[in-house]
This record gives sequence, C-alpha cells and structure tokens, in this order.
Amino acid sequence: MQRLPIAIVAGHVALRCVGGCAGAPSEAPSETSTHASSDTSSSALFEASSEASSSGAFAAGPTYYRDVAPLLASMCTECHRSGGIAPFSLGTYEEAAPFAALVARSAALRTMPPYNLDNSGACNTYVDAPWLAESDIATLTAWAQAGAPAGDPAHETLESPPAWRLDRVDLTLEMPVPYAPIEPIVDDYRCFILEPHLDEDAFVTAFEVRLGRPDVVHHLTLYALDSAKDEQDAAALDAADAGPGYTCFGEAQVPSRWLVGSGPSDRGGVLPAGTGLRIRAGRKAVLQLHYNWQNGAAPDRTAVDLKLEPMVAREAFVQRVINTKFELPPGLPAVTVSATEPMESDYTLWGVWPHMHNLGRQLRVTANHAGGESCVAQVDRYQFHWQLFAFYEQPLHLRAGDALHLTCTYDTTSRDTPTKWGFGTDDEMCIGFFYVTPGG
Ligand code: HEC
Repeated sequence: MQRLPIAIVAGHVALRCVGGCAGAPSEAPSETSTHASSDTSSSALFEASSEASSSGAFAAGPTYYRDVAPLLASMCTECHRSGGIAPFSLGTYEEAAPFAALVARSAALRTMPPYNLDNSGACNTYVDAPWLAESDIATLTAWAQAGAPAGDPAHETLESPPAWRLDRVDLTLEMPVPYAPIEPIVDDYRCFILEPHLDEDAFVTAFEVRLGRPDVVHHLTLYALDSAKDEQDAAALDAADAGPGYTCFGEAQVPSRWLVGSGPSDRGGVLPAGTGLRIRAGRKAVLQLHYNWQNGAAPDRTAVDLKLEPMVAREAFVQRVINTKFELPPGLPAVTVSATEPMESDYTLWGVWPHMHNLGRQLRVTANHAGGESCVAQVDRYQFHWQLFAFYEQPLHLRAGDALHLTCTYDTTSRDTPTKWGFGTDDEMCIGFFYVTPGG
C-alpha cells in the first residue's frame, strides 16, 4: 500500500515523481502533444514556450529515458516486469515502446494502474492511492503521439521506490502445511485454522503478506474467531474435509470477525494511526485463501506477518452495508441495487472496500444526513480483481441519525437469466465494507 508520497497541489492530487516528471502542464495536454508530435522546429518551439527549464538543459517533448521511465518505474513496473503479475513487461525501452499507444490509452481511461476508487478529489482521496496525476497522463499521451522517442539514456534517473516492508514483526501466522489448489475448480477458496497463541489481547496495526505462490493465490482474508464454539465449528469443518484446511467459498463459514485482507499484488499495509483490530488472548484465527489455478496449481504456503500493539487509542471494526435480497433482470446495461444503514451512534470512518462481483460497474456511497448528503466513496470503473481497503487521507465523521447509503450498478447484457445474490462468482453482491471506530 505504501507506494508513493502524495501531495495535494492546488486542489488536485499530484504524485511527486521519483527522479523528476515531465513538465507538461496538466491543463494543456492536447497542446503538448501537438508540439511533441511534429517536426524539430516545432519541438524547439515547444521547448522555448513551455519548458524554459532553469537548468538550461536541452528539453523537448517527453522522452522515454527522462520522463517516461521514472513514471513507469513508480506506477507500473511493480506488476509490469518479467515475473510480475501483468501479462507484459514495461521495464525497458525495448519492452515499453511497442506498447506506447496502449499505455497512453490505459492511463487516459484510468484503467491502469488498477484502482477501483475515484481519487480525483471529487469524492475524497486515499492514502497511497495508485492514481496518475493529470500531468502524468499528458506526458504519456505526448510521448505516444510523438512515436515513443527514446531520448538520451544518460537522462535516465530510474529510482524505483523501495519495496514496502513491515518495520517490525510481532506475530507470524503461517499455513501449517503447503496446499495445492484442487485442479478442477477454477476458484478454490480454502480456509486454514491458525493459532496466534496470545497470552493477552493484542491489536493488529500493520500487516505484510508473504505469498507462497503469488501466481496461484488471488487474494486472502484473515478472520478472528472470538469464541470456543466458533473454534469447535471450524475444527469440525476442517476434520470433515480431506486435505489441509477446509473448503470455504465465500467467508469463513463460521461466525468470525474480519481482521485484514489483501488483493493481487497488494503486500499489506499500515492501518490508520492510533487504530487497530483486536485478537483475543488464547483465541484462534482463520486464514482464507482464494486460489485461482489459471496460472497453475503449484503447492502454496502463505504467511501473514503482523505488527501488534498491546493497546491502541481506538479499537477498530470492519462493518458493512449490504443488500442480500435482489435479483437482477438480464439483458440490461445498467441495473441498480441499493442499501441503507442508519447509524445508531457516532462513528469515524477511516476506510472503505467496495465489493461486487463480475457484473458490477459502478458503486457509490453517500452519507445522508438532515442537511443533505455527502460523498463517501465513488467507483466509476469497478474491476473485480482489484479490490482492497482504501484508507481516507482525512477520516470522515458520521453522527447518530445519519445513514450510509450504497448504490451498486450492474451490466447484465451478458446474461439471459436473472442473477441473484450469492457467493458464486456468477452470482452478485452489493457490499460496502468500512473500517470504523466508535465515536465521532
Ligand atoms: C497492480 C498491478 C499493476 C499495475 C501497478 C499496473 N498494471 Fe497494467 N496490467 C496489470 C494486469 C494484471 C493486466 C492484465 C489485464 C488485467 O488484469 O486488467 C494489465 C494490463 C495492462 C494493459 C493492457 C490493456 C489494458 O488496459 O488492460 C496496459 C496497456 C497496461 N496494463 C498498462 C499499465 C500502465 C501504463 C501502468 C502504470 C501507469 C500499469 N499498467 C500498472 C497489472 C498492473
């Protein structure tokens, strides 16, 4: 989660580029590309008019080595590298240049880097959001339109941000034995009972996921079990199922409390300062893994490292607003489902995880109160594979009597029968998960 420092500049979010970004002004992307794509004389004009750089160094339209490589390194090559989870690498000029037009297009459409939430500032902003600044999009567009110029390799100041690591590990919860996903099932959900062995209650404040096989694990969720009865029920499921763990399509199959979760390429993160999620002394936990064996069915043994504190200022809970009673008619481009949850007391809202399945397209959450409504979360291009908890840069405050209102929009044109609520990937869901602490 900790990717890049984010600075709010004049009302819009700008990413501070590692190693320097192109100076393409965000309000004039088309102008930039016109100049950059034409001949030498107009490039010179462009240089004189908008890049009168104080250093006096030669500057024209964006080039790979000077402008594009640092941008790709900070926003893309975490996944787009050889051995990464993306289907092609953008790690070198030779690899990136053939994709220049596609790169510019995905950036302009904001399908890449993948992120479900709108971080433009129109409806809140999120900590370490992988979100391109308008000036970055202008740089990639101008570069592609100019025919992907390489520039001078001497200009390359390629500094990938250091990989995020947990600064302290207090507890590691690891699968007891390796598990190979069951081949005939494309989406294999498997739960493993783990023993934290805590003598005292403790609070999770940060976590790091160590995937055994990143190519085979799709996502995971760690749940706390809060009673002996829930532990016995989980143990019974485990005993009844051959092989390590038990099948758990959907959730943990026993009453459980969400601790942390992580999606593809998401290595973990830090929970909002002063908050944490309780693990009770002596109680067990369940680690649920979603295996997708399209990339193979190699045995996986995944571990989650936790940073714990004996006490936090504000105990956090993951709450949800959900609609489980709907049936979507087939053949429609936009079908809407909603849910409303009145607040019985004051809450501080620190983070949100919007959740639908494959037909989900848009999701909006508002806080409705006497004076009107305010935006809580906006998803414009929902992609099932890119879900995670996003934490607000400024937490939101809800008062008793306010209501959280969730609207989910689906495209059912691919279906010829109604789609119901359910855990199957072909079923649908409409859920907003919220990371909250009691009290405004
Ligand atoms: C978190 C991992 C991740 C990051 C970061 C990422 N990509 Fe991707 N990208 C993927 C995956 C996986 C695919 C394959 C299609 C899919 O799953 O959406 C993909 C597909 C693409 C495609 C193919 C067409 C499309 O739009 O789907 C382009 C182009 C692309 N990425 C460009 C970029 C650029 C440019 C960046 C950085 C600004 C970037 N990606 C950042 C994972 C990532």
